[in-house]
Amino acid sequence: MNKMEELKEYSELLNLCFPKPPCNVPDLCMDIMGMYPTDFLCIKHDGVMIAGCLIVIINKGFYGICSIAVHPKYQRQGYGTQIMHMVQDKYSGMFIVRTRNASGFYLNIDYKIVYGDGVHDVMVFVNDKYKVNF
Ligand SMILES: CC(C)(COP(=O)(O)OP(=O)(O)OC[C@H]1O[C@@H](n2cnc3c(N)ncnc32)[C@H](O)[C@@H]1OP(=O)(O)O)[C@@H](O)C(=O)NCCC(=O)NCCS
Repeated sequence: MNKMEELKEYSELLNLCFPKPPCNVPDLCMDIMGMYPTDFLCIKHDGVMIAGCLIVIINKGFYGICSIAVHPKYQRQGYGTQIMHMVQDKYSGMFIVRTRNASGFYLNIDYKIVYGDGVHDVMVFVNDKYKVNF
């Protein structure tokens, strides 16, 4: 599957996972990809994308987690956690995410809330490899 086909599949996944309004998440992701260096990781099941995550490479050692999405049929089965571990295995440093209604998911994988009200939160994680060299 080429990059364009993969992004189309991710866009369909985002539409399933993020009701709109408040905002059009696939369009937002496309805008972000036009503005910053990014990476994309996904998990497939029988050739179909069931989880995806866009990573914004702000700087070496500083990453934004953007629009992680797990197909509704596969939620609460560990795929979200698995993809976040894939991100942390690939990159070392500090990860930042802005969440809406999903803080519990990130708290479960050791992100800390640095700002927010429990519904809209900004959360940060620093992985161990990076802490050693900090
Ligand atoms: C949030 C999301 C990525 C989580 O993925 P997932 O595969 O369902 O999560 P996991 O199965 O790995 O969850 C592990 C644990 O995280 C916590 N958790 C998962 N989803 C949660 C949520 N929506 N709110 C609060 N806590 C959550 C639970 O403690 C869960 O353990 P449990 O199922 O034993 O209770 C997924 O539900 C999703 O795509 N939601 C819609 C899009 C979205 O909100 N993305 C986040 C944008 S910042």
